[in-house]
Amino acid sequence: MKIKDIIGNENFCPAPWIHAVVTPRGSVRPCNDFSMYVDRITSTQNFHDTYNSSVIKDVRTSIINDKVHPGCASCREKEKRVGYCKRNSLLNGIKYWGIEETELDIESPTKNVIWLDIRLSNACNLKCRHCYPVLSSAWKGDAGKLREMEIGEYIKDVVEYKLNEKYELSRDIVVDVSKGVGQLRRLEFKGGEPLIRQDLIEDFIRNMNYDLKEIQIDIISNGTVKMKDSLMELLNECKLLKMDFSVEAGEKMFNYIRGISLEDLKETIFGISRNVAPSRIGFRITQMVYNIFEYPNAHRWIKGLNLKEQLSGIFIHNYVVHPKFLNVLNLPLDIRLEAQQVLSDFIVDNECDETVYKLKNTLGKPQIKENVDLLKSYTKNLDEVRGVSLLDVEPRIGRYIYDQ
Ligand SMILES: C[S@@+](CC[C@H](N)C(=O)[O-])C[C@H]1O[C@@H](n2cnc3c(N)ncnc32)[C@H](O)[C@@H]1O
Ligand code: SF4
Repeated sequence: MKIKDIIGNENFCPAPWIHAVVTPRGSVRPCNDFSMYVDRITSTQNFHDTYNSSVIKDVRTSIINDKVHPGCASCREKEKRVGYCKRNSLLNGIKYWGIEETELDIESPTKNVIWLDIRLSNACNLKCRHCYPVLSSAWKGDAGKLREMEIGEYIKDVVEYKLNEKYELSRDIVVDVSKGVGQLRRLEFKGGEPLIRQDLIEDFIRNMNYDLKEIQIDIISNGTVKMKDSLMELLNECKLLKMDFSVEAGEKMFNYIRGISLEDLKETIFGISRNVAPSRIGFRITQMVYNIFEYPNAHRWIKGLNLKEQLSGIFIHNYVVHPKFLNVLNLPLDIRLEAQQVLSDFIVDNECDETVYKLKNTLGKPQIKENVDLLKSYTKNLDEVRGVSLLDVEPRIGRYIYDQ
């Protein structure tokens, strides 16, 4: 059976045959939303074996029988809720990539993987407010302090993590995956901060047996680590480098969220825009409670970089849902309506992405109150740990958090 034979089935998803996500602990998933335990690459179980673990084989069987596997249920719910999931992007790409003839075997070769999302490590130099230790090694100290400050609920909510565990793919695993994939069309590097492990990115690319000219490479970065000449030279050979930087706010709030200045990003951004010819540069805004007033400020700073046709877009890419108390809907409606007005005024004079209209709509929804106490204690305690106050940075939100 081939893709073209069942592409019209209601529950068809090509992910377990042509897509893979490899996490810093070596877990191999068909897609990032897959919610069941999967095997990890180890010294005895390689990429091919983990991509053919019993759970992934079960997923393939379900799809061939036009059923939704339990591990895929959350992805399908997300698809209904937000109208988008990885399944859609993959289905849309099948004709473009010309892979209708791909065989849908229960045991499937990793050579058929054409889109790989590889998260090399959780090494990071920042500890952004909405992030946590599983994604950032730099969070460890502050997470320990929060734990001592009796934010037990927060710890329960965010973890799963073990503070002393290091999440990082070994060079051997990186090379095994790199040699195992076929002619990739898309290759994504995420973190942690992926540019901290440029050595592993280079190891991956140099060990691939396939044509770099066919591959779009996506990197999401915090922009604080300069890209090395050797990596830029390599990336000049790829079809396209899609470089996304995370910028959630204007200077003051950006500093509150990320602990750095927007100025710290410029060297990395301009280094790439000037030296990697096939590059497009985008900006991701992660939407959370703190930056509801900030879209216009982020937008102005990004436009001021004057990247012209190299700018691929300014997207609200994510709403923080985990930790759930940082989701925008935890704020009272009156504060959000004020932010909605700021956004409406900005939209009148500026061309904005459709995600901004979605934010405008979201800001008008009823408040979710269950997690407000946690939001307040988390924010105040982290302010204390970091020696800052939201009252000084954004009083409109600060007054609510500090009950003033
Ligand atoms: C985990 S970071 C890794 C790449 C890089 N370190 C960066 O900050 O861009 C990838 C994206 O996830 C976002 N992110 C971090 N924590 C998040 C959370 N709790 N919920 C949603 N998005 C989050 C970041 O803002 C960033 O845009
Ligand atoms: S830079 Fe990225 S990975 Fe690091 S703490 Fe911030 S969001 Fe998390």
